[in-house]
Amino acid sequence: CGIVGYVGAREAREVVIEGLRRLEYRGYDSAGVAVVDTAAGAIASDKRAGKLANLEKALAESPLPASSTGIGHTRWATHGAPNDVNAHPHLGGSGRVALIHNGIIENFARLRDELEAEGHHFASETDTEVAAHLLDRAVVAGADLTTAMQEVSRRLEGAFTLVAIDAQDPARVVASRRNSPLVVGLGEGENFLASDVAAFIPYTREALELDQDQVVTITAEDVSVTNFDGTPAEGKPYHVTWDLSAAEKDGFDWFMRKEIFEQPDAVAASLLSRHTATGALQLDEVRISEDDLREVDKIIVIACGTSFYAGLVAKYAIEHWTRIPCEVELASEFRYRDPILTRDTLVVAISQSGETADTLMAIRYARAQRAKVLAICNSNGSTIPRESDAVIYTHAGPEIGVASTKGYLTQLIACYLLGLYLAQVRGTRFGDEIAMIVRELETMPQHIQTVLDNAEEVYALAREYVDATSVLFLGRHAGYPVALEGALKLKELAYIHAEGFAAGELKHGPIALIEDGLPVFCVVPPRGRDQLHDKMISGIQEIKARGATAICLAEDDDDEITPYADRLIRLPKVSTLLQPLLSVVPLQLFACELATLRGHDVDQPRNLAKSVTVE
Ligand code: G6P
Repeated sequence: CGIVGYVGAREAREVVIEGLRRLEYRGYDSAGVAVVDTAAGAIASDKRAGKLANLEKALAESPLPASSTGIGHTRWATHGAPNDVNAHPHLGGSGRVALIHNGIIENFARLRDELEAEGHHFASETDTEVAAHLLDRAVVAGADLTTAMQEVSRRLEGAFTLVAIDAQDPARVVASRRNSPLVVGLGEGENFLASDVAAFIPYTREALELDQDQVVTITAEDVSVTNFDGTPAEGKPYHVTWDLSAAEKDGFDWFMRKEIFEQPDAVAASLLSRHTATGALQLDEVRISEDDLREVDKIIVIACGTSFYAGLVAKYAIEHWTRIPCEVELASEFRYRDPILTRDTLVVAISQSGETADTLMAIRYARAQRAKVLAICNSNGSTIPRESDAVIYTHAGPEIGVASTKGYLTQLIACYLLGLYLAQVRGTRFGDEIAMIVRELETMPQHIQTVLDNAEEVYALAREYVDATSVLFLGRHAGYPVALEGALKLKELAYIHAEGFAAGELKHGPIALIEDGLPVFCVVPPRGRDQLHDKMISGIQEIKARGATAICLAEDDDDEITPYADRLIRLPKVSTLLQPLLSVVPLQLFACELATLRGHDVDQPRNLAKSVTVE
């Protein structure tokens, strides 16, 4: 969910709505806003099911009063359907307090029973409403909003960010956080609360990071932080380097398309300053000693969604370069299977947002078992890098489109850099070999640009297959995860049945799906010393024999593929391990264009959220 709180001289309802617009990618089932109506000494609020636009329309017809103090929310539903009643903010029994929430309150049923026994009436099916009632009960009994928030937070189990206002105390907004994102924006004569900095970037670039289990109170002039027991605490100030234009569409129809086209720059930025002139890697941010890295005897990559597919590519590169066994595991499965972890296990957590709850819980588990944790992350100040032993930041800039693109490519870069760094530290590869691969990495932005320059060819394919009901993707070796990612993109954006397979596995089952005219994307490995290329051609022949249309992604001078390809998309010639950086790009463009042609909202696909902060 997206959360905003504001107090200061500006018009609160406008700052809050503007902030929600910038956070809408975090959830868009419903939206709501509340301000303190100072003149009336009451809360004024409005909330609507559906996208933010529905709320804006309602507010245009009946605007909220002028106020210095307000909160707002865009929801990704957990408890209760996404309707008007379940939308946030929620009000407590007396109507004095308005509250918004991100997360899940696990003991809500018990608390609800307790409150109902006291005579409280509940309007919604949400877990959030219990927190609103508890908070309301506490202020009505005489506590100030900050103390009330500390008290309530101590009683809640689960993960939550809560933000509240009190009609009788219009000077402050109070928030609380446990395992769910919250940052403070520090202005002059105004302050902000938000799930991420995008919400307040037009007003300030100074931010404050909070720890878990803290309560923060903002007024126009002041910010104070405490722990849940009321003892004083301090946030950690930091400067946001993203500029405003990074969070704008810049003439593109979708953030996603803009982000696809930003990939050459994002990849270049992620490579910058990470090696010396001679190609030796310097990853200063990896704060794990070289001695400890030499001791590592197993790597486990954990991640979700697209980041997981980046991890699958990483396995091929890391094992090949370092000879360290590398497993890749879905974060949501990891801690439930009793994984074998020791001090010499290096857990690599990949998360664009740094807030994904499944990944966060997995790294906590790993650290409790004494494994070392290295995060690969795109969001400064987020929770996962904060709780890891080391971090490699990807410098992709803010990613707003729900489907990850530049986030994914820069994660691949970070994984390659990590693999090469480990190889350098452990001496499993010669220095000049590493330097050669680094030089090849340096050429990738230009090659990605070449692929983007041919976008029109891919768009033509999307027009051709706009009515497809099923699309398959085949790959081998590092191209196999690319096939999985291509299928995921198409499912999540175009809502078409799409599956990715390892080409060699085709004959063991998936081939049963092949029928006349079925489009099958084939990620063809570069020709090399191994037999991957020839084996891929055999697979293509097998599907063609059964009537499929083979859409081949193959390197420039690969003439052998020409007779087998019904459609052909050319890729610059690079080594097998780095090819995913190029071969995924046409698949991103295809999904984006096809979803656009089918009239879907590409940036906000149904049922999804950018950052899933609940398990
Ligand atoms: C959500 C998003 C995906 C993303 C995944 C992991 O499901 O919709 O696009 O890949 O989370 O996110 P993370 O921020 O941890 O990389």
